[in-house]
Amino acid sequence: MSRFAYVNGRFVRHGEAAVHIEDRGYQLADGVYEVWAVFDGKLGDAAGHFARLWRSLDELRIAHPMSEKALTVVLREAIRRNRVREGLVYLQISRGVAPRDHAFPNPAVPPSVVITAKSVDRAAADAKAAKGQSVVTVPENRWGRCDIKSIGLLPNALAKQAARERGAIEAWFVDDLGLVTEGASSNAWIVDAEGRLRTRDTQANILRGITRSSLLSVIAEAGLPVAEQPFTVEEAKAAREAFITGAGSLVLPIVAIDGAPVGDGAPGPVATRLRRLYIERAKATAI
Ligand code: PDD
Repeated sequence: MSRFAYVNGRFVRHGEAAVHIEDRGYQLADGVYEVWAVFDGKLGDAAGHFARLWRSLDELRIAHPMSEKALTVVLREAIRRNRVREGLVYLQISRGVAPRDHAFPNPAVPPSVVITAKSVDRAAADAKAAKGQSVVTVPENRWGRCDIKSIGLLPNALAKQAARERGAIEAWFVDDLGLVTEGASSNAWIVDAEGRLRTRDTQANILRGITRSSLLSVIAEAGLPVAEQPFTVEEAKAAREAFITGAGSLVLPIVAIDGAPVGDGAPGPVATRLRRLYIERAKATAI
């Protein structure tokens, strides 16, 4: 549970933390967010998440509210105040508070900053991974800039709810060509029938997952065959293995797609190994 939240320059009790009703994040989803996994009280894949945050802000022409150094201090303070050893830290930055108007406020207003942190039971997460989880597929219906980590998450929320209602942990978006783009809050991977790791390339309309890109380094170091190539739902169902990656899921084996088993319906050796290797690397590089 989050005990303290950072809101626009100060830490306040989580239950009393609030933003203004005219915040453009609330009224227009005009903002971005980032999520870091926390390992032993430290930020996992820190540099990658910072780089994507600055890029998301720049793409939307939202000012950087503080330097990376200052933000690192505040994120660590949020982790400390909430006594998080293993968990997640969330950051939302909106364009700020201004009378409602679709166009940007002129003159610009200071961006709003919210940070929360929560603990995760890693033993329970490991047990979930060891069991394997399932996904369902849903039609891709998001905007064309999924590379920006926008707080406009309604299609993702609806997809995740559809997954929940069908007993699955995640929903995979499928585009008009029948190709999987990514999950509602994760990137999608398979080990195809030829034994190659496959995930959608970043020219496609997906979020450039930081876990995805760290895992590509892990895969290269391990010398495993990999192709950033799209796959269909049918290919995924016929794959040897499937898994998802993200700051929340880390590397999580998927054993069923729309109720059909993947491989023998149990977590495969590649996904299981990559989960271990990714976590080792993330722990070793956390700051
Ligand atoms: N979600 N794709 C989408 C749509 C996501 O929302 C996320 C992350 C990812 C994986 O990105 P990364 O590896 O950088 O976490 C891919 C976060 C965890 C969330 O919404 O909570």
